Amino acid sequence: MHEIIRQLDEKRAAARLGGGQRRIDAQHAKGKLTARERIDLLLDPGSFEEWDMFVEHRCVEFGMADSKIPSDGVVTGHGTINGRLVFLFSQDFTVLGGSLSETHAAKICKIMDQAMKVGAPVIGLNDSGGARIQEGVDSLAGYAEVFQRNVLASGVIPQVSLIMGPCAGGAVYSPAMTDFIFMVEDSSYMFVTGPDVVKTVTHEQVTAEELGGAITHTSKSGVADLSFENDVVALLQLRRFMDFLPANNKQKPPVRPTDHAWDSYDMSLDNLIPNNPNMPYDMKELILKIVDEGDFFEVAPKFAANIITGLARMEGRTIGIVANQPMVLAGCLDIDSARKAARFVRFCDAFNIPLLTLVDVPGFMPGTSQEYGGIIKHGAKLLYAYAEATVPKVTLITRKAYGGAYDVMSSKHLRGDFNYAWPTAEIAVMGPKGAVEIIFRQDLDNAEKIAERTEEYRRLFANPFVAGSRGFIDEVILPHGTRKRVNRAFAILRDKALENPWRKHGNIPL
Ligand code: HXC
Repeated sequence: MHEIIRQLDEKRAAARLGGGQRRIDAQHAKGKLTARERIDLLLDPGSFEEWDMFVEHRCVEFGMADSKIPSDGVVTGHGTINGRLVFLFSQDFTVLGGSLSETHAAKICKIMDQAMKVGAPVIGLNDSGGARIQEGVDSLAGYAEVFQRNVLASGVIPQVSLIMGPCAGGAVYSPAMTDFIFMVEDSSYMFVTGPDVVKTVTHEQVTAEELGGAITHTSKSGVADLSFENDVVALLQLRRFMDFLPANNKQKPPVRPTDHAWDSYDMSLDNLIPNNPNMPYDMKELILKIVDEGDFFEVAPKFAANIITGLARMEGRTIGIVANQPMVLAGCLDIDSARKAARFVRFCDAFNIPLLTLVDVPGFMPGTSQEYGGIIKHGAKLLYAYAEATVPKVTLITRKAYGGAYDVMSSKHLRGDFNYAWPTAEIAVMGPKGAVEIIFRQDLDNAEKIAERTEEYRRLFANPFVAGSRGFIDEVILPHGTRKRVNRAFAILRDKALENPWRKHGNIPL
């Protein structure tokens, strides 16, 4: 017995050493933690149970028969985050660059299958050079097995990817199909092909950072949702993020009790909207003042900042917030903001997270670059997402709600449950100036008449009362009481039941 236990200890120690001390030191020298150190930080202490520690690859080509390392470049298993079960895999860059072999893939598939059976989230800590080159098609087959599971798990259990090293080739496509991608700054990259191949094929000279670093993907491509300064911060923020999510699509999000009074007033909100309708203000101020304890986990803050998306709690319960940001591009809807918000709305709807929509939108962004880029299709994504969502939907129009964008932003007509407006709301086909310049085109050189008409249009339409008279707005509320009203609305909607007609799946304008 003692001998067997000694052998077990030896085997475990060998597995824990991964690709060896030299490579572990190299990993540390780059400011990166090892696969197992990352797990220790992410999970509750002592909660991790590792699976398949002794799995080895079966490849014999290119001298691989002599380089078998237990665990085969990925640590898998389950544990808890603040007491709640998660399954996870953490790729070990010290073993053949964390590259994915047939057996490495099988380990990931095993925990994904188990997570699906018990209804628990899957977290991927990615640090991989892509398909293991020595294995050829076996490795590609392994990737496809993972991709298939990503798709079947989509909308059933939350899937979150944290990119913690250079992820190339197939290593980026599995994260791409998960719900959220977070990156570590300066040490993680995502690209389909690296800078060398880019140079050969397109003659572009580009660094790995420019091609697929955290700044690129969180601000230019929108592929990643958030980035953090190092491994430790990223893992701790991931713990915080997971606290907002339900374990699966049959559960409601967890409840976290709060001392923040549900009906508290904030008088400063009465002064949030500037007197001049063309002056911006910070919509985040409103969010932070109405959610529990001002705790807002913003998703994709640097990409399409004209729309804000993120998770918060009201009366301890997770809600998703989508809000136009007047500080950026006047809060208009464009291709990127519509795509960003649509994906977020669909995530919330899939996982029973009620939606609060804060509206101050002057319309869709005009221009050739938007039209040529397909704003019609992309804008329709957000329209589609809101229209199909069956979770509780509370909408508040703070100021502008013009044109098609009024319809899109969770309007009453898209099955909005509680549609509120502040007295400062302007709900119309377009702004007074634009409207008058079209209706009274023949008087354009008569400045006095145009000014008169503009004022008349503003008086008649730039308010919440016309929409209110039609029943499109349920109630005009005072800004200082917003938290109370929104909390009460979500409380009433807690057991909302609404289903869409049966279908195989809808055809969202992709
Ligand atoms: C096998 C690999 C590997 C791979 C890296 N290694 N990538 N082994 N298969 N894909 C090994 C290296 O040989 C090295 O071994 C160790 O990992 C560390 O690699 P380095 O190059 O020394 O590290 P670094 O300088 O940090 O560069 C990391 C890297 C680079 C950017 C990831 O290694 C790289 O470009 N790798 C190849 C990426 C790639 O082309 N992958 C295949 C894509 S095709 P030693 O023994 O020296 O420690 C693909 C198809 C799937 O993925 C498509 C599905 C849709």
